[in-house]
Amino acid sequence: MKIILSGYMGSGKTAVGNALSKKIDQPFKDLDKEIIKKEGRDIREIFETSGEIYFRKVEAEVLQDLIGRPEDFILSLGGGTPCYGNNMQLLQNDPDATVVYLKTSLEELTDRLHFEKEQRPLIAHLENRELLKDFIRKHLFERTYYYNQSNITISTNNKSPEEIAENILEVLN
Ligand code: S3P
Repeated sequence: MKIILSGYMGSGKTAVGNALSKKIDQPFKDLDKEIIKKEGRDIREIFETSGEIYFRKVEAEVLQDLIGRPEDFILSLGGGTPCYGNNMQLLQNDPDATVVYLKTSLEELTDRLHFEKEQRPLIAHLENRELLKDFIRKHLFERTYYYNQSNITISTNNKSPEEIAENILEVLN
């Protein structure tokens, strides 16, 4: 089985992916890292020099390539991946893939992203916590429609990546 982690920026997809990978001894892949590898430049640079539409195109191609592989792995998506093109459909149509939505409160997302926004082109320009929180509130509202199409939803509030990984395995087993 391929375990696919979805959720908003800052929901802990990468940390949970690493924790899951250790627990079940399955390789972990991060979609953003695969994009960086393919493009030979970081996400911020791709957005700045080629634009978001180009990024979404590459994101869909890299996802398609990974999903087409026969081996099992854990994959963390980018926060926007399920919301563009037929990415969610592709995942839903794959009987081997289980999509897990890591659901995190607005408060917790704001706290985390406040300190981690520089590497994230969609929010890097938001100057203070209130602007960031307003942006996340609206953006999350739009995206929740797509996240809710995941097979499983796990609340992540006040939980460590290890606890979240345990919760996912309890539901899957
Ligand atoms: C994005 C989230 C990022 C990255 C890109 C766009 C988004 O990934 O793919 O900056 O649209 O939410 P993370 O969710 O890993 O930060």
